[in-house]
Amino acid sequence: MALHGKQPEKRRRPIVGATSPIFCRAGTAGDLPHGSIPQHPIDPDTAAQLIADELMLDGNARLNLATFVSTWMEPQARELMSMTFDKNMIDKDEYPRTADIEMRCVSILSRLWNSPDHEQATGCSTTGSSEAAMLSGMALKWRWRDRMRAQGKPVDRPNMVMGANVQVCWEKFARYWDVEARLVPMEGERYNLTGDEVVKYCDENTIGVVTVLGSTFDGSYEPVADICARLDRLQAETGLDVPVHVDGASGGFIAPFIDPELVWDFRLPRVQSINASGHKYGLVYPGVGWAIWRNPEALPDDLVFHVNYLGGDMPTFALNFSRPGNHVVAQYYNFVRLGFEGFREVQQAARDVAMHVAAEIGKMDAFRLLTDGSELPVFAFTIADGIDTFTVFDVSRVLREKGWLVPAYSFPENRQDLAALRIVVRNGFDRDLADLLVNDIRAAAEYLAQLTAPLPPDPAPHNFHH
Ligand SMILES: Cc1ncc(COP(=O)(O)O)c(C=O)c1O
Repeated sequence: MALHGKQPEKRRRPIVGATSPIFCRAGTAGDLPHGSIPQHPIDPDTAAQLIADELMLDGNARLNLATFVSTWMEPQARELMSMTFDKNMIDKDEYPRTADIEMRCVSILSRLWNSPDHEQATGCSTTGSSEAAMLSGMALKWRWRDRMRAQGKPVDRPNMVMGANVQVCWEKFARYWDVEARLVPMEGERYNLTGDEVVKYCDENTIGVVTVLGSTFDGSYEPVADICARLDRLQAETGLDVPVHVDGASGGFIAPFIDPELVWDFRLPRVQSINASGHKYGLVYPGVGWAIWRNPEALPDDLVFHVNYLGGDMPTFALNFSRPGNHVVAQYYNFVRLGFEGFREVQQAARDVAMHVAAEIGKMDAFRLLTDGSELPVFAFTIADGIDTFTVFDVSRVLREKGWLVPAYSFPENRQDLAALRIVVRNGFDRDLADLLVNDIRAAAEYLAQLTAPLPPDPAPHNFHH
């Protein structure tokens, strides 16, 4: 039998990275600068872990009832999106199939919005409804300017008429493009635009009226057909022909599926353009919107750029040049995957849940409903009359402790006295979660009702933006 002696110990060089525990590696000891680029690289796993850990402190997106933007997509859609992260939407010659998919989406939406057969709708994808608003607003301004110049009239004082409830993107449009924003104030219990109000604000310098299908404040639809009819009368009485743009950021993907009898779209000849956010009820993750014009005449040719340095002639109307193509692919996936009937079921389920939660909140003594989720699957509610020991802001704060992000906000000019909470129900927020939310709202109200004095001010108030 062989006898063995003690072997000399092999000297091991420390291997840094793969074998050292992740939270002991370079970069995890608090030595990573935040506001400047670090001098040296670190291990990719460490970098990813560090950032993922910090993001744990963000709110949970699925519990974010403030946002209209999709927070859930099917795994197949996520997979498709990650396969196509590298596609730049502008490289239409290089990615002709992606370009074709964008065109198909434009065609699908123009049909969905009832573009008349004899008219050739035209449109494009955007980064969201805000960019779509800029493009649609510019088209209105350019057309108005052409009309005025043709009559030899001055073109230095354009205005746009809209409700005070418009999303901030329209105020941005007006400021950035030097257009006076004529905001029709809310009045009493009227929280959005009406035909009778609109005509009081229109004159020959009005480039157009923006009406919202699905107000950001309370989820209610504006009466687009009534507004158009009232503008028809104005034209008959005064000759003023004021075009209408419909901001269907959310409603453009809701009404066609579950309110087919509602006439709000290109069936109304006065409607010249419509925008919608693919990333809201178009059910895509944030990054895609749509702008569709009634016909090519509604989009002045001098706004369209033709570039050929990527090969081929490429007409574009966009603020950005480069833009992700994978969101457009995901939009098309949703159309193919769900079809009309699938979209109808998804949107109806969201409305059912919204109306259920609204009805439950309506039964609580602490609250008064402003809307009930029967238009957009979105509703707003406020504190019941006679309660002055707590506010909507306190309710929002207490709910946050349970993980729910429910925004509280004041209404605009003329109704700034009114503060409300708003709940946006989206795909992925099912009846089970909804019932848990209802219980937590009830518990929050009961807790706050016991207070004998108001809560001290929130040291870090959360400002929700529309
Ligand atoms: C009615 C309305 N218009 C425009 C926008 C802006 O849309 P996006 O976030 O897609 O730019 C929103 C966003 O909530 C909205 O509700």
